[in-house]
Amino acid sequence: MDQPSVDAAPWPVIIQGGMGVGVSGWRLARAVAERGHLGVVSGVGCETLLARRLQDGDPDGVLRDAMAAFPIPGVADAMVRRYFRPEGRAADEPYRPMPLYHHAMSIARQQQLMLGAFVEVSLAKRGHRGAVGINLLTKIQLPTLPTLYGAMLAGVDYVLMGAGIPREIPGVLDALAAHRPCTLRLDVEHAPEGRIYELAFDPAAHWPGEPPPLVRPRFLAIIASHALATMLARKATGRVDGFVVEGPTAGGHNAPPRGELRVDERGEPVYGPRDAVDLGALRQLGLPFWLAGGAGHPERLRAAQAAGAVGVQVGTLFALCEESGIAPALKRSLVAHAGRGEVAIRTDPRVSPTGYPFKIVTWPEDPSRGGARERICDLGYLRTAYARADGSVGYRCPGEPVDAYLDKGGRREDTDGRRCLCNELTATIGLGQRRAGGSVEPPLVTSGDELGALAGFLAGRTQFGAGDVIAYLGG
Ligand SMILES: Cc1cc2nc3c(=O)[nH]c(=O)nc-3n(C[C@H](O)[C@H](O)[C@H](O)COP(=O)(O)O)c2cc1C
Repeated sequence: MDQPSVDAAPWPVIIQGGMGVGVSGWRLARAVAERGHLGVVSGVGCETLLARRLQDGDPDGVLRDAMAAFPIPGVADAMVRRYFRPEGRAADEPYRPMPLYHHAMSIARQQQLMLGAFVEVSLAKRGHRGAVGINLLTKIQLPTLPTLYGAMLAGVDYVLMGAGIPREIPGVLDALAAHRPCTLRLDVEHAPEGRIYELAFDPAAHWPGEPPPLVRPRFLAIIASHALATMLARKATGRVDGFVVEGPTAGGHNAPPRGELRVDERGEPVYGPRDAVDLGALRQLGLPFWLAGGAGHPERLRAAQAAGAVGVQVGTLFALCEESGIAPALKRSLVAHAGRGEVAIRTDPRVSPTGYPFKIVTWPEDPSRGGARERICDLGYLRTAYARADGSVGYRCPGEPVDAYLDKGGRREDTDGRRCLCNELTATIGLGQRRAGGSVEPPLVTSGDELGALAGFLAGRTQFGAGDVIAYLGG
């Protein structure tokens, strides 16, 4: 029998939240999906992760196996030729850099993105009939269209996007499912009045023959306000299938508080009653929704369902389980310390170049403690586009070398306290870049506030799997 259409599938009770960079990779998403819940891979940087893993030798051949099924001829071969190192890298050898993105992207670069997403999704879907989603950040615009198309070529069932206003994505999914060209409006700071910049993607540019039929995945918007949910339900360019309502205790980026930013004595943003989502207003939209942020408890799941939610989206518990992408030694150390209550979680309004609050974890053995990192911007996912005086588009990131940022018209005060989430989060999954002088990029761990109260769930365990999380939640 053919795979059922995504439209007929039941809604999942538990969504394993998408966690970048590579924390929710295919192993975790598969472990959740094969147990009947929604497993979500992160699509952020997936082509970099693929290229780096190929350079590390792809020891079990699983990546090359998945790549071989990519339906556009020549793409997998080109990637293997360029990045695969059968013996892995020498101990002191850095990863081969990939070119930074620009709004006009070469066909080859688009195909690397498509392939990266295809590999993650197809491996997550392998061996079961459960549903798999992909998570992208709306703010990271340049890779979005090819990444979505690559995920759809692998049959992705859900697309989940927050960190911005994903108003155009539903229409994009409709277009991509029909292999039609599509565009996304590029946000460009200081754009001349009336000038619109667009990112364009044309599936037809990639196929020598007929493309295969595609299913339009369901689209869930991740939101932190009912006003945004209402706007998206009414004004998105196509069908929004549901919402993940994410509160400020969730891991990763958080929506900033409403109104002017106020911080407490620890320098953390202060959230108030205005930041609470009105679930009554949400229910009136008549669309399914899930609650996220500290929802990884059986009683929270029941309370969410009593409030009209289908279920919950959980991140932190899954981030620490055996199948997650966090490098094993780092994870062990983190779980051991969390079990003893020896972790500090801080919502930092400055670290992320996006300007959104971002949660960071520190603990006594945290390898990123104290070490100053030399600023280098060579992954560039979080750069923002700005218009130069002549109207052409440049890119800058407040986490890049300060002089370079100032040369591009950036303000010095915007660089204060910024860290390189691109490189540091990539290091967290064991794929950190080696720098001149022999240092390796330090990791940076994010998690929800929940990490501070993990002892009850752990009950003395020092490791656990995705199945344990699902059993605990009662799924
Ligand atoms: C390590 C980690 C990375 C995350 N990365 C992302 C991400 O890339 N995109 C996203 O939409 N949410 C991200 N999140 C949020 C989760 O998808 C989820 O909504 C959240 O973790 C739920 O709250 P909880 O951490 O209290 O369970 C991340 C969370 C964690 C813990």
